[in-house]
Amino acid sequence: MKGPTVALLGLGTVGSAVARRLLSPPPWLVARLGGVPRLKWVLVRHPEKPRAIRVDRSLLTTDPERVLRDPEVDVVIELIGGVEPARRYVSRALEAGRPVITANKALLAESLAELAALARRRGVELAFEGAVAGGVPIIRPLLRCLAANRVRRLRAVLNGTCNYVLTRVAQGATLEAAVRAAQEAGYAEADPSDDLSGRDAARKLAILAMLVTGEAVDWNRVRRTGLDDPAFRRALEATASGAQSRSRWRLVATADWRGAVPSLTVQPELLPPDDPLLQAAGVENMILIEADPVGTVRFAGPGAGGDATASAVLADLIAVWRGDRLPLPDLNRGALDRVGIAAAP
Ligand code: NDP
Ligand code: HSE
Repeated sequence: MKGPTVALLGLGTVGSAVARRLLSPPPWLVARLGGVPRLKWVLVRHPEKPRAIRVDRSLLTTDPERVLRDPEVDVVIELIGGVEPARRYVSRALEAGRPVITANKALLAESLAELAALARRRGVELAFEGAVAGGVPIIRPLLRCLAANRVRRLRAVLNGTCNYVLTRVAQGATLEAAVRAAQEAGYAEADPSDDLSGRDAARKLAILAMLVTGEAVDWNRVRRTGLDDPAFRRALEATASGAQSRSRWRLVATADWRGAVPSLTVQPELLPPDDPLLQAAGVENMILIEADPVGTVRFAGPGAGGDATASAVLADLIAVWRGDRLPLPDLNRGALDRVGIAAAP
């Protein structure tokens, strides 16, 4: 069997980590793909820019048409970020019958229903394990391993940058220095206010909520307070001066389906030392899912960064290439579609 011919859109933090493994694939990756992958195109904005990785100039292009019209391409991996032009490129690829892998939560929070419907219509895969919680497996486990459950509540740390910042501040760093360090490490979004405002966490929460309920969720309706909130900044300063306390701040994303009306929130919370979410330190993310009949399950690990996210993207590539379909619910149907799992009550 041959390995997949891949077009990679984007060669930044995540794209570089993916490209490195496609250009020099370790033997286990080749074995799991059933052949050597071929990286045929890398779409960028600035081909002459110095990069962390050496990529043959002949692979780099600024012309999306060359990439999207190439009949040799088996799989498109979208890692440019943002809603447009990513939505156009992903739609074009799916429309042409090509599976797409993306880690782009901004795009999915806006357009998951539309893109999943297009993928379904064209009979191709749309995979996005890296879009929520970086290297932490959550999309496939949620849709497959928890398929027999009814989810009551989900509490999570979903933004690595904010968690890294709050961890560093608790160790005595200034907020500004901690944000700079997160940017230098490649954890932050191109616009770091996406992280600090809680928008990134709200988008990820909305994606998870869509998968749980099978219904489209407007991520703008997530009630949201970020680390940029002046009242939070004052509270943070007040708790810093009481540094002997073992309580710690986390940006907590919660989806609660136990009441008559589902509630989705993202906000900084001062957690007591025995709260399991405090075990997520630095760039780590954690997702606690309370469900019947399983009880509470925890998923945790590196929530951002090139290598961690490449792990999720390449796992998607293996799954797509093997024909292992993600059981995505039909989000356009309006009513609960219990293809995967279901929310209480
Ligand atoms: P970067 O900003 O580091 O890289 C973006 C890349 O896309 C760059 O190579 C850039 O080209 C290219 N690009 C951007 N816009 C265009 C365009 N219009 N046409 C062609 N190329 C374009 O992003 P990241 O690697 O950090 O993130 C990529 C995606 O992965 C985003 O959706 C992000 O939210 C998501 N993600 C990121 C994680 C992280 O830890 N960084 C973790 C999980 C998900 P050039 O280099 O020439 O400027
Ligand atoms: N900026 C995001 C974060 C990247 O810090 O969590 C991972 O999605």
